[in-house]
Amino acid sequence: MPTIIDGKKIATDIKNEIADRVKALRDSDERPPHLAIIVVGDDGPSHTYVNGKINACKAVGFDYSLMQFAATMTEQKLVKHIDGLNADEDIDGFIVQLPLPEHISVQTVIESIAPKKDVDGFTNQNFGSIGSKHELLLPATPFGIMELIRRYSIETEGKHCVVVGASRLVGAPLSLMMLEDARATVTVCHKYTVNLATHTKEADILVVAVGKPGLITKDMVKEGAVVIDVGTSRVEDSSKKSGFRLSGDVDFEEVSKIASAITPVPGGVGPMTIASLILNTMSAYESAHE
Ligand code: GUN
Repeated sequence: MPTIIDGKKIATDIKNEIADRVKALRDSDERPPHLAIIVVGDDGPSHTYVNGKINACKAVGFDYSLMQFAATMTEQKLVKHIDGLNADEDIDGFIVQLPLPEHISVQTVIESIAPKKDVDGFTNQNFGSIGSKHELLLPATPFGIMELIRRYSIETEGKHCVVVGASRLVGAPLSLMMLEDARATVTVCHKYTVNLATHTKEADILVVAVGKPGLITKDMVKEGAVVIDVGTSRVEDSSKKSGFRLSGDVDFEEVSKIASAITPVPGGVGPMTIASLILNTMSAYESAHE
């Protein structure tokens, strides 16, 4: 049986650690960290993610503000609102929940966030700081994956890490962290990669962040590999009250027969994204108060 990498437990451990630090602040009459969450429009899954983020703030004792705007809000107004948050000393960090309505440029909005308050770690400046001595705020999902690897003492130095998916939010920054911080040999695969399996079969550590349920089957994985599944797609399931269940990119049942360690979906990488957001907000607060 492989080690099941329990992201839910590690995320709870992290939140308990932060809650202790926030309690100490409150006990000495200091204000706690304050996270603001901007939501534009009415995307269904975003509500679930945002609720998870608010519940995490409550659990650790952070102050939070939910700023909800209509889908018709203009890009200019949103950027103006962001400028206000950049200047507001009572807000330590904030995020703009994605997706945004189509008439708003995600890149323009992200680049208007002050890097020191960018607790999602999405700005070019934070991306570019990965692996340097001056790392600022790391992108939340890759940061969460690195934290899982560290807390499970998974060896990375000199290992071959294959990352499937080269997105700007997960695959690309993770491959840099694996290279620079974890000293792995890194291969990055993406939708134009020819014969994906020849690459995945070489992986000591296989990270999959594509969003295609069942993409990675047992024959594509090396015996003893560590498998990290970032995929979280909704698939129809009439046996569930909601009518759907969450599915990863990896065939968990089959691949877990040969992996040495594997993340489940749900309960693997997902909870770590929120834990990283909480860690980043704490870091932003501490940097502002140094
Ligand atoms: N939408 C889906 N995941 C995320 C995330 O991690 N951050 C933000 N801001 N939006 C998202």
